Amino acid sequence: MSNHEATGRRSAAWFAAEGRNGFIHRSWMRNQGFGPEVFDGRPVIGIGNSWSELTPCNAHLRDVAEAVKRGVWEAGGLPLEFPVMSLGETLMRPTTMLFRNLMAMEVEETLRANPLDGVVLLSGCDKTTPAMLMGAASVDIPALMVTGGPMLNGKFRGRDIGSGTAVWKLSEEMRAGKLTAADLREAEGCMSRSRGHCMTMGTASTMACIAEGLGMQMSGGAAIPAVDARRYALAQASGRQAVQLVEQDLRPSRVLTREAFENAIRVNAALGGSTNAVVHLLALAGRVDVPLQLADFDRLTAEVPVLADMMPSGRFLMEDFYYAGGLPVVMRELGELIHGEAITVTGRSIGAEIADAECYNREVIGTMSEPFMPPGAGTAVLHGTLCPDGAVIKVSAADENLLRHRGKALVFDRIEDYNAVVDDPGLPVDPSTVIVVRNAGPKGYPGFPEVGNVPVPKSLLEAGVEDVVRISDARMSGTGYGTCVLHVAPESAVGGPLALVRTGDVIELDVPARRLDLCVDEGELAARAEELRAAGDSAGTEGRRRGWEKLYTEHVMQADRGADLDFLTGGSGDQVPRHSH
Ligand code: FES
Ligand code: MG
Repeated sequence: MSNHEATGRRSAAWFAAEGRNGFIHRSWMRNQGFGPEVFDGRPVIGIGNSWSELTPCNAHLRDVAEAVKRGVWEAGGLPLEFPVMSLGETLMRPTTMLFRNLMAMEVEETLRANPLDGVVLLSGCDKTTPAMLMGAASVDIPALMVTGGPMLNGKFRGRDIGSGTAVWKLSEEMRAGKLTAADLREAEGCMSRSRGHCMTMGTASTMACIAEGLGMQMSGGAAIPAVDARRYALAQASGRQAVQLVEQDLRPSRVLTREAFENAIRVNAALGGSTNAVVHLLALAGRVDVPLQLADFDRLTAEVPVLADMMPSGRFLMEDFYYAGGLPVVMRELGELIHGEAITVTGRSIGAEIADAECYNREVIGTMSEPFMPPGAGTAVLHGTLCPDGAVIKVSAADENLLRHRGKALVFDRIEDYNAVVDDPGLPVDPSTVIVVRNAGPKGYPGFPEVGNVPVPKSLLEAGVEDVVRISDARMSGTGYGTCVLHVAPESAVGGPLALVRTGDVIELDVPARRLDLCVDEGELAARAEELRAAGDSAGTEGRRRGWEKLYTEHVMQADRGADLDFLTGGSGDQVPRHSH
């Protein structure tokens, strides 16, 4: 019996084959300089790399891959690096979120089609992390993630500035006349001064921590700065561990359990993490058939205070978070609220991983008795007549005085319409105005962009008003802030009540009661709905769509289902019985 038959590995179906097919599978691989010994039945470890110079946050991942390879060789495996689609937040139009599911599909199909026994997933920028986890979960071969790590703290004129958050703040300061365009140019180079992803607790850092909290990334891995030598040591250890995962046949389906998702949801709350985590976790849960509802997020986080004092809600950045002890400290601090028995990619339980975590800076990571913010300050889930299937708001990023608010709507059908008038001194707004922007959901935009934190009207900014209630079916950048109700479902483009709001309608927001209501009587709303139906698709947009956008808009589910495609829930598994020749 050959070594392959003894191990029963997936890769054996290619590399142990006799005759013509075996020749094809092995011969071409040898053009890379491999000797015959690499086909001796050792675990074949793919390194899925979302490296791209168009995704600056992931541009260093080829170096990370080299460290992973060292580890794979060291543990007796065969590392094979391959590129996957990359999604860069800062450049891609109309929004990376349009392509998250496409990237997940690419990861899934690449893993399935190739002779891989296990995979190391290299991600960084916001969508690359959930996309890779979703794809790998659907194939369910042993997998672990190494995120690329955050940039060093931004430093501008003697103070720390955070990715994204500084952009919003400094550009508002310029609009208010406090900074010049030249000042802003200087800040560009000061904010992004090393390789790595955003170093605020935006979506990238949140998702890196969530990958760790789920048990899919080695403990302590999320926070190490991209340029810190210890990230490369971690990558090497992850390469070694990937070989062990194959030996132990430890697959994502054993890691991504209901308990793991509950841990991740609480981690997000304790970090004051991104609202986008809600969408990504719902989508990932759908891939592994773990029942997860929007309402679970509120219920599970009711007792979780915000422990990390991190931008955009707080003061510190990821470099500080790493030096303070990182995510293991947060998880240990959560104590009983964490399911300690959940298994991680180390083969050990999360409880064992975090047992010795020590905090080195209590200003950055608080305690349960002295948290940064009390329970309920994270992401709240709202329901009501304006959002029958839910909406979210990041409480820690909102103005306390607006959390209970009644005001008249000022409605815009397109974000562009709003942006065109936002600096107009005659815009009919006062501090109580509720700004409503629609047609910015998954199907409507399409792609569910991060435009929900629309800018505050200039006339209000100049009068010293820094926040107003904003409501949309869009998302918001994880680095954004403001009293922004997001992810309204169903979205306006599929006929949600958001489509029926008119300027002057009264809207009532009550975050403590978890409500968002449109105060218009039902008869009037029914008449408006009838009018809308009669108008139909007057722009004829549907008929003009092609390619991915067409597939996406025909199959995307609403925010409360994670905006995955309806035919991508569940898994395809790792078996592909038919040959290529
Ligand atoms: Fe890539 Fe923020 S833009 S992580
Ligand atoms: Mg972002």
